[in-house]
Order: sequence, then C-alpha cells, then structure tokens
Amino acid sequence: MRTRFKLAREIERLSQDQAESSTYAMGYSDEFTQILHRRNAETHAAHLLPYLKSGSRVLDLGCGPGSISVGLARAIEPGELHGIDMEESQIMVARASAAAGGHDNTTFHVGDATALPFEDDSFDAVHTHAVLMHIPDTEGTLNEVKRVLKSGGVLASREMITDASFVGPEGAVDETAWQTFAKLIGARGGHPNMGRNLKNVFVNKGFKDVQAAGSFDLFDSPEDVAFFHAFVNQWFLSDEVAGPATQFGLATAEQFEMWRADMDRWDGHPGAIAAIAFGEAIGFKP
Ligand SMILES: C[S@@+](CC[C@H](N)C(=O)[O-])C[C@H]1O[C@@H](n2cnc3c(N)ncnc32)[C@H](O)[C@@H]1O
Repeated sequence: MRTRFKLAREIERLSQDQAESSTYAMGYSDEFTQILHRRNAETHAAHLLPYLKSGSRVLDLGCGPGSISVGLARAIEPGELHGIDMEESQIMVARASAAAGGHDNTTFHVGDATALPFEDDSFDAVHTHAVLMHIPDTEGTLNEVKRVLKSGGVLASREMITDASFVGPEGAVDETAWQTFAKLIGARGGHPNMGRNLKNVFVNKGFKDVQAAGSFDLFDSPEDVAFFHAFVNQWFLSDEVAGPATQFGLATAEQFEMWRADMDRWDGHPGAIAAIAFGEAIGFKP
C-alpha cells in the first residue's frame, strides 16, 4: 500500500537534516487509522458539545477520517460543519462517511492548518483533536484559528500528554516504548505533550475564560485490551515504524523485540490496562 511507505520516507528525511519542513509523523495506513475510527463526538469532544447550538458554523481542524466531525455536524444541524485536513485520502474517507450517515451539512476540504482557506470572523467554534500535537508551528496555527473565529467564538482542543500515558500494571511493558513514541512525534517537529500546555498556549494567544481539564482514552475490557495489543503490534511495532526508527537511532532493534515480547505477555494478563492521556482546553476569542 502506497501510504505504508510514507512514514518510512518521512523518517528517512530526518537523516537528511530536513526537520524544519516537518510533516505528520503517524502516517495514514489502515493499521494506524483504525484507532481514529473508534472516536466520536460524544466520547472525544464532550468538552465542546455544551457550547454548540443548532445553526452554529463549526470547523474541525485536522479532521482526519471525520469520525468526530460527523457528530459535531449532528449537534449543529442545520448549521455548517467544515472539516479540513492536509491529507486527501483522509478527506475522501470523511466525505464518504458523512454521505453514508446523511450528514448533508458537512463540507470537507484538503488544506493546511497554517493557511486556512476561510474568511475572517466566520466560525462560531473551532475544534482540534490530536492535531496541534502534530503541527510544528503552534503559533501560526493559532493565529489562523483566531482569525477565522468570530468574536465570542470558542476554541476547543484535546491533545495527547504522552508522558502521562501508560500501560499497566506497572512494569508490564518497558517505559521506553512511550518515550520512543514521543521521539517519533518530536522528530517531525511535533509536540508529544501538547495536552499539558494547552491552557498556557490558549492564555498566551489571548483567549479568554480558558478552562482546562484532562481525561484518558482507556483500554480495559478484554476486547479493548485485544484491540490495543493488535494496534500496537500492527502499527508501532511493525516494520513500517520499527525499521526506520531503528535505522535512524530513535530506538534499537533489541528494544522493539523486548516491547513485542512485553506486549504479547501483557495481552493475556488479567490486570492489563492501557491509557492514552489527554489534556483538554476551551477558550473564547475576545
Ligand atoms: C491523529 S490524526 C487526528 C484526526 C482526528 N482529529 C481524530 O482525532 O480522529 C491528526 C490529523 O491531523 C492532520 N494534520 C497534521 N498536520 C496538519 C496540518 N498542518 N494541516 C492540516 N492537517 C494536518 C493529519 O493529516 C491527520 O489526519
């Protein structure tokens, strides 16, 4: 599959000292995007839903396959939901999913978060989920968000805190696995702990009445543990990530072997749990 090689090429560019032209580190393989398809607005944008009204105009920035966008669209009917993502394949999935669900108040665009193709003061709400953590230019992105928001409009973000994410019980999986995940994001100029900084970032950008909170995406039922095990094996521990990551010094082949064995033991452990930590923030344009 063409997209499977994209991440390998991106990491390879690191060795050519091109980090300043950073792009998204996770890739768009089916193996990675399966975790995005488990999301929805009720579970992953609950902090924004109380602020949405029928008729609102909302932008889902970095919408990916649109799993959250379609629920936002439902919450604002007959208002307009616009989703934007730099990756065309994701926008095509989002359009198909919206069409299948009958969400005819949605429009999905291919575009860059740092140069939004929208008018000033034109949205009641902007939403980001697991997006600011991947965009090197936080300042440029938030300048654009602020430009397109109406006065009084709300910005709602939920972004990962990699250092607070865990696999339990303690000691089941060597902690360096999470550190390597963080390096993977950082290597492309991203911010693996953006969730921890959201309140500060919003306040510094001049948003008012900023409220912050935190939450986990938990994997604790037998089905969820099995999903997380398969996801980690098929994506993070796959040749697609492990090959270039070891080649370019983010981790060693021995570490990947150790994590594989740890995860296989973890899958059958009665106390198995995994938790992806997120910081959330809401703020208003003055
Ligand atoms: C982890 S996915 C999250 C997708 C969705 N928000 C969700 O939580 O399911 C991050 C998305 O951000 C997009 N992205 C990263 N940098 C971007 C940029 N500069 N402009 C637009 N989209 C970007 C990627 O293409 C990817 O689809």
